[in-house]
Amino acid sequence: RSRPIEIQLPDEEVAQKLKMGLYFATWWSLNVVFNIYNKKVLNVFPYPWLTSTLSLAAGSLIMLVSWATRVAEPPKVNFDFWKALLPVAVAHTIGHVAATVSMSKVAVSFTHIIKSGEPAFSVLVSRFLLGEAFPLPVYLSLLPIIGGCALAAVTELNFNMIGFMGAMISNMAFVFRNIFSKKGMKGMSVSGMNYYACLSMLSLLILTPFAIAVEGPKLWAAGWQTALSQIGPNFIWWVAAQSVFYHLYNQVSYISLDQISPLTFSIGNTMKRISVIVSSIIIFHTPVQPINALGAAIAILGTFLYSQAKQ
Ligand code: 3PG
Repeated sequence: RSRPIEIQLPDEEVAQKLKMGLYFATWWSLNVVFNIYNKKVLNVFPYPWLTSTLSLAAGSLIMLVSWATRVAEPPKVNFDFWKALLPVAVAHTIGHVAATVSMSKVAVSFTHIIKSGEPAFSVLVSRFLLGEAFPLPVYLSLLPIIGGCALAAVTELNFNMIGFMGAMISNMAFVFRNIFSKKGMKGMSVSGMNYYACLSMLSLLILTPFAIAVEGPKLWAAGWQTALSQIGPNFIWWVAAQSVFYHLYNQVSYISLDQISPLTFSIGNTMKRISVIVSSIIIFHTPVQPINALGAAIAILGTFLYSQAKQ
């Protein structure tokens, strides 16, 4: 008689690693889809302030419906929570709209190459504004990040100053977003999913009046008609996809952030940018010169060296 087969269950650590792997893969895939639809929309409808607002609106609506139908438990938050969230939301709004403005002017890959330089901004802000000191290897790792981004920027075939500055402003804003959220949220227990939901809602309130002032319904209506006549009814699906996928990738990233250190998160974020850079170059046939690709590779290598040095 054969003995029953013994199944060895993976221990908790392996299960946790598998779970995180799944989160990361979902986060990156959702992000790639967002970036592609966002750029497809911006190519025919160049109104990044509206598309940024719609992504926040989609997220807010999804979460309000989830809370109302009890698919997700609504958070118990008080006035202090919203007060602490305000600076985070201001930084999130600026970082989001600046990145979208950037992507409306340059290739998606270029925006993300510059955005891979975010750790350099984090160190510079912490050093010069917060007086935090770092070990020498951390500073040295900034050289390939800054050098690589600079090389990629000067050799970019379709360089555009607004596109470049948008990505730089986004980097700066997201560094402040991380600093503010660390400072203000100590001791408050709101899940990553609900935290991001509240962040979307507050950012939506902040962004809407600015979007109306900068672009406005007249331009949107005319642009919408042009885009519809060029693309047909599919255009509406593209807008829906960029809006919903923006919320989904951010939501998954905030859920993951609940379970990992900020350092692991930033390594995951850099790997996310590699998938976006490569897939957008393939999909949009972005022209890349070898020296340009070298700059991107050096910048990304620098980000990995930075994470090693910080460890
Ligand atoms: C945005 O629109 O907010 C940016 O594309 C976000 O950039 P991220 O890749 O840093 O989330």
